[in-house]
Amino acid sequence: MLDSILVTGGAGYIGSHVVVTLLQSGHNVIVLDNLCNSSASSLDRAYQITGRKPVFIQGDVRDRELLDKLFTQHQVSSVLHFAGLKAVGESTREPLKYYENNIVGSVGLCQAMASAGVFKLVFSSSATVYGEPEQMPISESFATGAPTNPYGRSKLMTEQVLMDLASSDPRWSIALLRYFNPVGAHPTGLIGEDPNGIPNNLLPYISQVAIGKLKELTVFGSDYPTKDGTGVRDYIHVVDLAEGHLKALQAINDKQGLNVWNLGTGRGYSVLEMIRAFEQASNRVITYRMAPRRPGDIAECWAAPDKAEKELGWKAERTLNDMMIDTWRWQSLNPNGYTE
Ligand code: NAD
Ligand code: UD1
Repeated sequence: MLDSILVTGGAGYIGSHVVVTLLQSGHNVIVLDNLCNSSASSLDRAYQITGRKPVFIQGDVRDRELLDKLFTQHQVSSVLHFAGLKAVGESTREPLKYYENNIVGSVGLCQAMASAGVFKLVFSSSATVYGEPEQMPISESFATGAPTNPYGRSKLMTEQVLMDLASSDPRWSIALLRYFNPVGAHPTGLIGEDPNGIPNNLLPYISQVAIGKLKELTVFGSDYPTKDGTGVRDYIHVVDLAEGHLKALQAINDKQGLNVWNLGTGRGYSVLEMIRAFEQASNRVITYRMAPRRPGDIAECWAAPDKAEKELGWKAERTLNDMMIDTWRWQSLNPNGYTE
């Protein structure tokens, strides 16, 4: 049997880009996804891009029997764990759903991995675990803070579970990747972000205004202590992020224990800068209005990316304009996402 990488949540936004990167670099890939927030079309598109097919298993990461069978039938060398729920607002209304899926799901996955003798894991964490740091840029040595919602807490708690696991048994090699704000789409325009309903995140919202599906953008807060009063974030191209996963996968082959890496660019852009950059790339006007701050938002957040550069030999290469052009290409070629 050939070695494969198991990608949980591989049909989703970030996972599908990582699947493309893995296939292009010659890895065999198995995707486990219950499609609760995605479509299997993303994997057909990954095949169109790469000419290679991942094995797709539609199922839930909390299904222990299914995991045991999967590990028996396939020789899995490592696991990239994206499967989880990510809607901040919903997590406040239905916290148990988030703790169950994100924490219990991760615990079950690790139990199944251990019983199959698979000890290499890359986990999708988030800059949200830093809470609201007093200083920028944020480096991995900063204490984790107090995330403002159950989604964020589910990420922080899962990190803690994985830290305890790595200290309990030296066979584990775990990477916690703390993403800043992933945006953009594959440059082919074939895969991208396809949010359900009205988007919560900035760039999907802007692109739906550009295409005329939404009337105007609401800018949440114009009185932050930032360059122009609007929130500042470290937006990172999803293909750069995908390449970071490949590097992390290589690194955990040589390292034991648990390692934390920020995946960000080290640059912050304000909401107004994002609007202007999108207008330039798309040649469309984005109508917006200023509104009060969104509860739970922080003023600014950007990464110190040097640890990843030094230890993984990875740094984000794509520019803000690349992020905008690729988002716009995906949005205009697929106005309804993966729904034909
Ligand atoms: P996504 O919703 O597009 O992808 C998640 C995938 O996991 C989906 O395909 C979904 O169907 C699947 N899934 C969910 N629960 C599952 C389960 N129990 N069993 C099997 N499959 C399941 O989200 P994304 O943006 O690609 O995010 C991927 C990961 O990265 C998530 O863990 C998310 O919390 C984390 N993350 C995302 C961001 C972001 O801005 N997108 C930022 C930081 C961290
Ligand atoms: C949000 C989540 C965070 C998650 C991240 C990536 C919250 C509080 N945090 O982060 O947990 O990890 O997404 O999925 O939801 N903005 C507007 N108008 C909009 C949307 C956003 O002005 O319609 C502003 C926000 O106030 C913020 C910036 O745009 O300043 C980015 O927002 P968003 O894309 O939602 O990401 P985060 O808030 O950083």
